[in-house]
Amino acid sequence: MTPSDVKATLSFSDGSPSMDLPMFKGSIGPDVIDIRKLYAQTGKFTYDPGFLSTASCQSTITYIDGDKGELLYRGYPIEQLATNCDFLDTCYLLLYGELPNVQQQADFKKLVTTHTMVNEQMQFFLRGFRRDAHPMAVMTGLVGALSAFYHDSTDINNPKHREIAAIRLIAKMPTLVAMAYKYGIGQPYMYPKNSLSYSANFMRMMFATPCEEYEPNDVLVRAIDRIFILHADHEQNASTSTVRLCGSSGTNPFAAIAAGVACLWGPAHGGANEAALNMLEEIQRNGGVEKIGEFIKQVKDKNSNVKLMGFGHRVYKNYDPRAKLMRETCHEVLGALGLGNDPLFKLAMALEKIALEDEYFVARKLYPNVDFYSGIVQRAIGIPVSLFTAIFALARTVGWIAQLNEMIGDPEYKIGRPRQLYHGSPRRDVKPISQR
Ligand code: SDX
Repeated sequence: MTPSDVKATLSFSDGSPSMDLPMFKGSIGPDVIDIRKLYAQTGKFTYDPGFLSTASCQSTITYIDGDKGELLYRGYPIEQLATNCDFLDTCYLLLYGELPNVQQQADFKKLVTTHTMVNEQMQFFLRGFRRDAHPMAVMTGLVGALSAFYHDSTDINNPKHREIAAIRLIAKMPTLVAMAYKYGIGQPYMYPKNSLSYSANFMRMMFATPCEEYEPNDVLVRAIDRIFILHADHEQNASTSTVRLCGSSGTNPFAAIAAGVACLWGPAHGGANEAALNMLEEIQRNGGVEKIGEFIKQVKDKNSNVKLMGFGHRVYKNYDPRAKLMRETCHEVLGALGLGNDPLFKLAMALEKIALEDEYFVARKLYPNVDFYSGIVQRAIGIPVSLFTAIFALARTVGWIAQLNEMIGDPEYKIGRPRQLYHGSPRRDVKPISQR
């Protein structure tokens, strides 16, 4: 952090003593006002539920400029990474801060590949679930359960443990997601195949059966790899903040990542891709493009509680750069599969066009986010809607673990413990029940 030569002065209209607050500058993006001594010196808290104006940490991993619609992983624009790199390159970049050279790329790929199997006992956790359990319920359980197996990588304060836990989590998430899928459809699990790339291996574990050879489709493998890249990290979003807060107690990395999985499940966050596709299918069922006007009317009616899922973002007040890339991938995949006239894709583009011209959305700076098109691509790839958020969790695991390790590696970090504005009952005494 670079101290700013500008100070913030806090003064009170009741004549209480004013206070100078130091400010710090980042390399890019907003400066911060350091309020760490505020309570000690004034006996007052700041108030910011939802953290709209609060920086919870300092980080060098991901930068978002919501007004420009810019997303950088370690300084590299997401557009360049999605076009020139694969997901494992992106994992290496997020974990270690630089893109790998040829040797580093080969070593990292080998390291991840040789950790893709899970302990054979893991399959017995799945048996406890109903076959129709939501995959995110299964994933929340399975990821937490990993902490029961890897005692040689659960001491989060040991850098070696942190590194091997990161590799294990990145390597095993595809295996666990595929197992959750196979369990739900009653098919046998497919073991990882080390001769395949990370994303081709995932596609094979998902769609192959022991009965015949599986030939990965390069277009679909590239599409799922791009989906992973686009979802890999995103600054201090709700699930990443959950992982940081959970990890700040010193719990093991698997438990902290399981907390992130649980948070991501929500429809306002990672669950939005599933909700967005369900929304498109419902509009399609109720008349398709002709009925978009009626649906938009519902969305504008506050009492309807209907939101345009896949639209809006806390930070992006311009187009989410990931949505643009996802729309491109839609074109590529649907074209390659001869689904160029996919009615849902056409409906999505019509809905986007209408929304972007409608004052209600323009005034609120509501643009498509990463979740608006990702469901259409995943559906075209053959991934069931209920698995969309599990795919998101698979991709985001590297971001969660990179952010967690950055926090734990920061000598200044403390256990997170926010305060509150209390306006409940002042102290009162318990009366005997006869007097209540
Ligand atoms: C992700 O944080 C991240 O980085 C998350 C993420 C990541 O990579 O980790 O990018 C992934 O979670 C993307 C967002 C996916 N969620 C959705 O698509 C669900 C639909 N979107 C909304 O729930 C909402 O836009 C949020 C939750 C994403 C953001 O909400 P904010 O910032 O709290 O904004 P808000 O709810 O205060 O909305 C401001 C106004 C309100 O209207 P007014 O009360 O001012 O009249 O915009 C309206 C809202 O009603 N609004 C919407 C809307 N989103 C906001 N109206 C209709 N449809 C929407 N989608």
